Amino acid sequence: DDEEAAEARPPVVTVMGHVDHGKTRLLDALRSANVASGEAGGITQHIGAYQVHTEVDGEDRRITFIDTPGHEAFTAMRARGSQSSDIAILVVAADDGVMPQTVEALNHAKAAGVPIVVAVNKIDKPEADPTKVRGQLTEYGLVPEEYGGDTMFVDVSAKSELNLDKLLEAVVLTADASLDLSANPDRDAQGLVIEAHLDRGRGPVATVLVQRGTLHVGDSIVAGPAHGRVRAMLDEYGNELTEAGPSRPAMVLGLSAVPGAGQNFIVVEDDRMARQIAEKREARERAAMQAKRRV
Ligand code: GTP
Ligand code: NA
Ligand code: MG
Repeated sequence: DDEEAAEARPPVVTVMGHVDHGKTRLLDALRSANVASGEAGGITQHIGAYQVHTEVDGEDRRITFIDTPGHEAFTAMRARGSQSSDIAILVVAADDGVMPQTVEALNHAKAAGVPIVVAVNKIDKPEADPTKVRGQLTEYGLVPEEYGGDTMFVDVSAKSELNLDKLLEAVVLTADASLDLSANPDRDAQGLVIEAHLDRGRGPVATVLVQRGTLHVGDSIVAGPAHGRVRAMLDEYGNELTEAGPSRPAMVLGLSAVPGAGQNFIVVEDDRMARQIAEKREARERAAMQAKRRV
């Protein structure tokens, strides 16, 4: 029945790449360029997931972006990131070229069957060599379209905000060419915790990505070991949301604790059940930890 009720949803894009190649700055640039084009807000605080609009062939299209850090310690998160996304943007700094986490990221994306768009970043730098990057990635099986392959490469500068519209277009074209993205919005929500922290005034705040269904204010959810009723939801500009459908990231307030990045969330019948499930999970985790310690 899920298939019957399925509706088109925006692609979810993970931005991956080696440490300091410009993933976060690129995401910030894409977002602020979008804000300037008429969205409310003007908040500059970084959040790990957001949605932008772009026009392709006269049609308004949305894209959801997720950031993953390049540090070696975050291998597991990058693996999860590529599993939960539809497309990977592989950011490669044009002055630095292909580096270990570049290769790791492209291997994760390939293993997950996720199409890759390459953003050759920092082309504002005098020592930038975008041709060299194309040659290096060709050796890893990512052959640029202009060389007869099927991977779109876009030269960008997050710093100078150069070619950001071309990058968005490449994402939409890649999605249309190789993916059939749909989800049923008329069911209980489930999805993924992207990041979470304890806010002094607001308590636990979790940025979640809704993958199926629609999340509403008032829903009872379990997110990892945390539970609670959704007290409020905010979009990436700080505007209050009453609901969040498939592919929408949202900041959720009202959880009992701070869940971990990469943990799943589900909507359940009421908060009593949410608490029971969360407590069971916690007990199971505690038992597993103790078992580990005994070995
Ligand atoms: P990790 O999350 O630590 O893996 O790094 P990252 O890939 O998110 O890189 P980040 O966005 O933090 O950028 C690293 C450095 O490169 C910062 O000093 C940025 O200002 C700089 N940078 C990013 N994009 C550009 C660019 O297009 N041109 C220039 N010149 N510098 C850039
Ligand atoms: Na960095
Ligand atoms: Mg970063």
